[in-house]
Amino acid sequence: MSEPTIEVYETEDRSFPPPAAFAAQANTSDRSLYDEADADYEAFWARQARELLTWDKDFTEVLDWQLPFAKWFADGKLNVSANCLDRHVDAGRGDKVAYHWEGEPGDTVTLTYSELLTEVKKFANVLKGLGLEKGDRVAIYMPMILELPIAMLACTRIGVAHSVIFGGFSADAIVDRCIDAEAKVIITADAGYRRGSAALLKPTVDAALEIGAPSVTDVIVANRCDTNPDMVEGRDHWWHEVMADASDDCPAEPMDAEQLLYLLYTSGTTAKPKGIMHTTGGYLTQVAFTHKYVFDLKPETDIYWCAADIGWVTGHSYIVYGPLANGCTSVMYEGTPDTPDKDRLWDIIERYKVTQLYTAPTAIRMFMKWGVQEPQKHDLSSLRVLGTVGEPINPEAWMWYHEHIGGNERPIVDTWWQTETGGNMITPFPGVTTTKPGSATHPIPGVFMELVDDDGNTVTNGGGYLTISRPWPSMLRGIWGNEERYRETYWSTYEGKYFAGDGARLDDDGYLWLLGRVDDVMNVSGHRISTTEVESALVDHPAVAEAAVVGGNDDLTGQAIFGYVILVGDAEVSDELGNEIREHVGVKLGKIARPKTVIIVPDLPKTRSGKIMRRLLRDVADGNSLGDTTTLADPGVVAEIANRAAESDED
Ligand code: WTA
Repeated sequence: MSEPTIEVYETEDRSFPPPAAFAAQANTSDRSLYDEADADYEAFWARQARELLTWDKDFTEVLDWQLPFAKWFADGKLNVSANCLDRHVDAGRGDKVAYHWEGEPGDTVTLTYSELLTEVKKFANVLKGLGLEKGDRVAIYMPMILELPIAMLACTRIGVAHSVIFGGFSADAIVDRCIDAEAKVIITADAGYRRGSAALLKPTVDAALEIGAPSVTDVIVANRCDTNPDMVEGRDHWWHEVMADASDDCPAEPMDAEQLLYLLYTSGTTAKPKGIMHTTGGYLTQVAFTHKYVFDLKPETDIYWCAADIGWVTGHSYIVYGPLANGCTSVMYEGTPDTPDKDRLWDIIERYKVTQLYTAPTAIRMFMKWGVQEPQKHDLSSLRVLGTVGEPINPEAWMWYHEHIGGNERPIVDTWWQTETGGNMITPFPGVTTTKPGSATHPIPGVFMELVDDDGNTVTNGGGYLTISRPWPSMLRGIWGNEERYRETYWSTYEGKYFAGDGARLDDDGYLWLLGRVDDVMNVSGHRISTTEVESALVDHPAVAEAAVVGGNDDLTGQAIFGYVILVGDAEVSDELGNEIREHVGVKLGKIARPKTVIIVPDLPKTRSGKIMRRLLRDVADGNSLGDTTTLADPGVVAEIANRAAESDED
């Protein structure tokens, strides 16, 4: 980060105000929440905490800020499972559906709030029976089945912190996380359905425990696919057997607001993942607040669907805690959007009359690739709000979502946030904000951001680094077991500010445009160019379905731009087309942003969470060896990309 400016080439003139009819019924449709928070943000968050949550003991102090350590509502007491379940049941809403669950083979379960509460109480007793106590940690390694939120909520009922490990991770990843967190129990399943077969989980847990995670004494196994796994006597227990005898009497224990709620491991710049710590009161306040206002949630009538995986923070905050705290009905699904067919999402939306859909740009681009005929097979008119998260959304994908899923009128909320921020931070409010395709717009009320240059000076127009200048309720409380790394990673780059690691620009109207991680910003002949903007320009070419851009080393220009593109279904691979795509970027963004090489590939290497593995693409660009590719969705993809790169080198 030696040079301050991020050059930006693209402008966007289209804008979409909230439709009048939408604004008229919205949970908020004017500036009042922003004004209130600007006037006194502590008082604002205190009001939200008291109105959205039920406290066993009210708090007297809102914020204790000892930079970089924040405590929110510290002397208050509450229980997360009581807020997510008991209070809705006690208010007579026990028969309301909490989850409509869709298994991949087509099996479905409808679980009401009172049924969910009973399961949670029983499972909390199971955990107690294994000797778990407040402050202990358990690992959860499960497919997208209802036992997963049940296990999480049971933990919160008794003050045990969960560490959910995404079901696609390896045995090594389980070992690292269990050792770091000193997890005592692993909760898993035999397997989960994925693309027509049972993806085994229990054997991976066995392999992990073989490698060694000495703190783990017990494993609880839900039987999802009847795969008949080995069960180790004394260590492994079937979920259905331990639940059969469990009592459903288990009062929710009031917790300190700063009680550790969960750890969620996320990768940083070093090899060792960081255990991001989230606590109870502030976290639940912000996820409930954002879920209510960002998605314009009407708990009485809405059927909300976040199509993420609970293994990631999006699922924690917007499948489990936010939606349940707000007492709404959610859809939850197992499997992938293309099994049994490529219209799976649209079919589910039609059948349940889903009102909010929350997904990722990478999924939207995949839907684009599959073609508009898939959504057109279904009635999507129940939809009210469309959300996206996880990466910058290119304007073309935004417009496709707007037009083909949103019928040209549903508001789109592009939500920027991170595992570390716990909840949405930058996003439109659908009844308030005029959106622009590709911009996440503005910070939510009560969140304060600043763009800065290399010297930490505030940037009010143009490119800079995204920082957060005041604490927020759902902020990470630290990195588990590593206070120094917490300070170093987030609080040492700019004095007194949280450094998000993302580049962004502010346009003339004060809109924020996220430009991707700053480590993905390229420097070509002294010009900084965002990978995201080049990707967006590539995808703008009619023959391109998806693109990833990296900066490879170049003797002449420092870095050179390598564009990897996937073509739309019927486009013919040819050198002419590659050149045409390259020129298209030149026309769209300026010659400096034209890729040196465009490599046409059948697929892109992605992590199991769907993020493009740019490091690998950079290695290919640099002709380096590929190293460890085991976290790839499909390791074969990398070899294929390397072959294509070698071919285009020879040309
Ligand atoms: C990126 C996911 C642009 C960003 C919730 C951030 C986004 C990282 C957006 C965090 C968005 C997330 N626009 N970029 N709307 N949302 N990002 O921890 O680079 O998996 O730093 O959290 O994703 O990823 P994480």
